[in-house]
Amino acid sequence: MALLDAIVKTLRAKGWQRAKSSCIGAGQTGATMSSNHTAEPLPLVSRRASGLKGRIRVPGDKSMSHRALMFGAVAIGETTIRGLLEAEDVINTAKAMTALGADARRGADGVWRVQGVGVAGLRSPSQPLDFGNSGTGVRLAMGLMASTPLTAQCIGDASLSGRPMGRVTVPLSQFGTTFETAEGNRLPLTLKGAKNPVPVTYTLPVASAQVKSAVLLAGLNTAGKTTVIEPTPTRDHTERMLKGFGAKITVEKKPDGNHITIEGQHELAAQNLDVPGDPSSAAFPMVAALITPGSDIVIENIMLNPTRTGLIDTLVEMGGNIVIENRRLAGGEEVGDLHVKASKLKGVTVPAARAPSMIDEYPVLSVAASFAEGVTRMEGLEELRVKESDRLAAVEAGLAANGVSTRSGRDWLEVDGGGAKGGGTVVTHMDHRIAMSFLVMGLASAHETKVDDSRFIATSFPDFTGLMNGMGAKLTPAT
Ligand code: S3P
Repeated sequence: MALLDAIVKTLRAKGWQRAKSSCIGAGQTGATMSSNHTAEPLPLVSRRASGLKGRIRVPGDKSMSHRALMFGAVAIGETTIRGLLEAEDVINTAKAMTALGADARRGADGVWRVQGVGVAGLRSPSQPLDFGNSGTGVRLAMGLMASTPLTAQCIGDASLSGRPMGRVTVPLSQFGTTFETAEGNRLPLTLKGAKNPVPVTYTLPVASAQVKSAVLLAGLNTAGKTTVIEPTPTRDHTERMLKGFGAKITVEKKPDGNHITIEGQHELAAQNLDVPGDPSSAAFPMVAALITPGSDIVIENIMLNPTRTGLIDTLVEMGGNIVIENRRLAGGEEVGDLHVKASKLKGVTVPAARAPSMIDEYPVLSVAASFAEGVTRMEGLEELRVKESDRLAAVEAGLAANGVSTRSGRDWLEVDGGGAKGGGTVVTHMDHRIAMSFLVMGLASAHETKVDDSRFIATSFPDFTGLMNGMGAKLTPAT
């Protein structure tokens, strides 16, 4: 644990700290909520830049990093992970796995090593598990714990404590797991894992890889076959990675969707994993280069799993000059280098069917759309309402503050192109992707843009500012 705390310290030393309140750690119990707010907000300003240049790497994929730690925790033996995303969300997952009995630590060589305890080996943590800002962390961990007779309290920051957990407590209860939650099925919650879990067949009511994964992970320590029916495909890292760990998992494509079945109570074998760059983090320099005249950059080693590439497809449709170079297979995933040049973009309609493959990318796509010619319409956005913030509302407010007209409904958004004026302050609502999106906007706006608080960028992309400024961006603390 001490090493993990040291890593969090390093992240904070980079200037992106979210000091935790005193409610957990240091032997304290009875915590109900973690908090980022003992430190002051860190407003940042972004100014017009004259062409981004360079070859960069963005940090490891967040979805794969969470999963690598969790699956390593219940495998037999030592799992090694290279390229793990060392950002707050993932460090919180590493801490949670350690608290559950599986030692996860970073070596001096930068490689993470997880000592797995087997599918039935997790034990009750002695303190609440603090997942900070991360929906993926808490929801997948709830699944992982659900079929083992342990008791765990799960807490998170104010953003996470406002997000719906019923989408996982409902299916997990069918295994025999019980929950005590705050009002409205929210955090903080106490989970009691099932002693004699029964296998479940569950049809996903929302297109959510987190819910799919939670149910499959509960199936790991449940005798018999657990099946998730997924009418709309979502990111499939859980299926791919579990297969790599030797799980008995099958995927059948049927008329009503993918049927994913896992046979429980078979041990997993520790793996040596390499995590490629996160396409959801690459999205920010990619859009920055497209909208900033004179830009020419390469973003190396990006994961190109087809369930994650909706933004690239959309930007190419809009006229974006994005060439994928050096396509190759690494660690069971397709990866490549993205060569991106400044481009004249045009508005398009983004169909609802594409939403799951770019669900985290709509804020930055909206920024790209504001610099396109004509209107961009995005459909199927209902899930944006329950992310780290209500992203539909946050994006619209941020665009309006910077002179961009929009129209929206419950699950759609239209953005008028023609270029953002800038000059506004964006309220980030504890949401890393809102902060990064509007810092990207400022690089090509007539006037500077300001975000009210950049601290949450550390949840997924701690060195965002350094990396962007290294290519010629002008992101500076607000005075
Ligand atoms: C994730 C799934 C998505 C995504 C999140 C990461 C995952 O959430 O928004 O950032 O790793 O499974 P949903 O599955 O709830 O849409």
